[in-house]
Amino acid sequence: MLTCSLCAAATCLAETGHDAWLRYAPLQPAVAERYRALPATSLSLSDTPVLNTAQAELVRGLKGMLGRTFRIASGVPTESAIVIGTVEQLRKIAPALQIIEGLRGDAFWLTAHEVSGFPCIIITGVTDRGVLYGVFAFLSRIAREEDVFRLNELQQPSAPIRWANQWDNLDGTIERGYAGRSIFFEDGSVRPSLTRVSEYARLLASVGINGCTVNNVNDDPHILDPDFIPQLARIAEAFRPWGVQLGVAVDLSLPETAGRLDTFDPLDVRVANWWHKKFDEVYRAIPDFGGVVVKADSEGRLGPSFYGRTPADAANVIAGALKPHGGLVFYRAFVYDHHLDWTNLKNDRAKAAYDIFHPLDGRFDENVIVQIKYGPIDFQVREPVSPLFGGLSHTNTGIELQITQEYTGQQRHTCFLVPMWKEILDFDLRAYGRSTPVKQIVAGNSFHRPTGGYIGVVNVGLDQNWLGNHLALANLFGFGRLAWNPNLTAKAIVDEWSRLTFGNDPAVVETISRIQLASWKAYESYTGVLGLQTLTNILGSHYGPGPESQEHNGWGQWIRAGTDGVGVDRTVATGTGFVGQYSPEVRKIYESLPNTPDDLVLFFHHVPYTYKLHSGKTVIQTIYDSHYAGAEKTTEFVSQWKSLHHSVDGERFHAVLAQLSYQSGHAIVWRDAINDWFHQISGIPDANGRVGKHPHRIEAESMELEGYIPFDVTPWEDASGGKAVVCVQTQRCTAKYRFAGRKGWYDLDVEYFDHNNGVSKYQVFVGSQLVDEWLADLSLPATAPNGDSSTRRHITGLALRPGDILRIEGFPDAAEAAPLDYVEIHPE
Ligand code: GCU
Repeated sequence: MLTCSLCAAATCLAETGHDAWLRYAPLQPAVAERYRALPATSLSLSDTPVLNTAQAELVRGLKGMLGRTFRIASGVPTESAIVIGTVEQLRKIAPALQIIEGLRGDAFWLTAHEVSGFPCIIITGVTDRGVLYGVFAFLSRIAREEDVFRLNELQQPSAPIRWANQWDNLDGTIERGYAGRSIFFEDGSVRPSLTRVSEYARLLASVGINGCTVNNVNDDPHILDPDFIPQLARIAEAFRPWGVQLGVAVDLSLPETAGRLDTFDPLDVRVANWWHKKFDEVYRAIPDFGGVVVKADSEGRLGPSFYGRTPADAANVIAGALKPHGGLVFYRAFVYDHHLDWTNLKNDRAKAAYDIFHPLDGRFDENVIVQIKYGPIDFQVREPVSPLFGGLSHTNTGIELQITQEYTGQQRHTCFLVPMWKEILDFDLRAYGRSTPVKQIVAGNSFHRPTGGYIGVVNVGLDQNWLGNHLALANLFGFGRLAWNPNLTAKAIVDEWSRLTFGNDPAVVETISRIQLASWKAYESYTGVLGLQTLTNILGSHYGPGPESQEHNGWGQWIRAGTDGVGVDRTVATGTGFVGQYSPEVRKIYESLPNTPDDLVLFFHHVPYTYKLHSGKTVIQTIYDSHYAGAEKTTEFVSQWKSLHHSVDGERFHAVLAQLSYQSGHAIVWRDAINDWFHQISGIPDANGRVGKHPHRIEAESMELEGYIPFDVTPWEDASGGKAVVCVQTQRCTAKYRFAGRKGWYDLDVEYFDHNNGVSKYQVFVGSQLVDEWLADLSLPATAPNGDSSTRRHITGLALRPGDILRIEGFPDAAEAAPLDYVEIHPE
């Protein structure tokens, strides 16, 4: 209660994050007063499902923020009103109203004008969906305390395609999902209750997302079974009132696996017929079905190459069946050989998409969109723009961005991706020697294409706050906002999101924006600098550090780190030739070592560790320093967030604090693993004397152990000194250390391992006094001590005297043997 009385009314209530940025929290009375002059009636010009939603949303939002229940009306105004309806409906009742130019597609217009002789606020668009988007924009203005009385605002989306992809499996799990189980499926069926699905559609609609595929691209053969289609129809029903079209992922082999043909050859007429019949059946159940996404010839999925056919053949056979119904095929360009010979220095996975798709330019049907990941590899923390965007001038294209943070910390790390996406979207590929930024290409503008746009892999789950981390929702919000208007700045987007999510207190907005805007570069600097990509364990969870896993296998995410140097030579002159896929102007940048920007230098060039970057520093020292700076930055996030203690509701405050504190500990795991690995491989010491030297650290294996035995961690760099200790007694083990430092106040860090196959308990004693205890109950993607499970417990303010015995007691549970890596004792 005391806390509440200190914070603003709007932020008092504990919040779960379930309402995301659509909280409609009560405005301060003085602010609410500014909106007193709003007409008391919300009048809808029609009662279509989407307009009904729009009206209900308007009333809900106004009630939440202003505490008043607006009157609902329909038909012709008989008093001042907030009128919502399409331009066509509006023309009938307000013939004098001059409709603004440029109102097309999903655009909306907010204005004030007389209707039937009464002054009205008008929210209109060409389509119902446009009107709904207008309502959300109107409410957002009020939530952000902006004016709504002198409006004349036209907003036009940048591109027609603004889709979400979910990678949900029918059994209820989600591939690369970090926020609980599927909101769509459980046990092979669509869930009985689709409340969360409607709520999700509402979130999507509020940022202009107009389509969503719901199942994993590594698709299930039953997705279009006759008894499954009615289940999908239920999802479509939940989406429909929000203007979100349903789509699914399909496998090219469905005619054979589900249809019992003896082939799935896209050029076989029986296969074409099968797809036709199948989509006729789908559209009978779901008349507004949006289309399908296809992953073929990729990571073990069957594809057209099985019959010597091309991706265009494959896309077109499905497109032909969807065309009569207005459906789309999103054909993914994520096609590559994952059994490449790593010993051949000319091999390069980065080249695959362009090599395969560029020769097919112009051969895809008009309702096909080639869906291209932003970079040539796979959602890494930094990659150059995929050259394929510039190589398909006669084909519709869409950019695939990843909101679920597979390679960027899996929502356990805060990593606001909008700044990265903006760099990609603003990048000018100079196709045909003219200005062709990616955002113009995918919007269809550069090459005069009829359609194109944005696809974001989201993977929300049943977790209350959708993505498992309150701050991560800014990525979903930001994706929608950028797809709508890629010219918005990252700062404008994050400010808008913060205000809607946490309220308008300037200190809150400023602090959250600062953390978010710094978070991508911070993450990059401790996980994959200079264009090395995310140096995670690519053969496992894609989460913790694992640089060695990049090399010596067929996956092609090599960094070519050796004793002589590091980086992949992708030049035309001496390397793989990937650079040759860009236009001549871009080629000039990347072909030349001095022209290549530092942040991508190792993506394009193999250089000695002593090579001096534009910054004036060597490659190796940059690697060392960045990892220290990045980890340090995450500690700042913790103290910045702590400054909001009384300005944010307790529930979200503590959840974010726990998340950022965990992140700052795990950033140290990353820092040490990557630095130790490069130190070993380069043999070059850190000029600043930190790498491999930890003056405050006491390795667990060097402590006095009872029941604990040393354990070799794999990979070695994921544990300090390559070793942990694990408890081999059933009840309890102890690790002791006699403190020999000066009397004073100290902070203690205990590095331990938290796997997901047991919940060990730890207790820390000074002498006989218990000073801290906790459970290793996080949900981390590991079943053994390694860089995924390594976790830090930070204990502050301990009074220590020389001779004090510091004792850690570990209580193992199930397959988790209370493992320990080290302790650090820092003067406070
Ligand atoms: C990544 C990811 C896979 C996913 C694939 C894809 O490689 O790890 O889980 O299936 O991308 O985009 O198809």
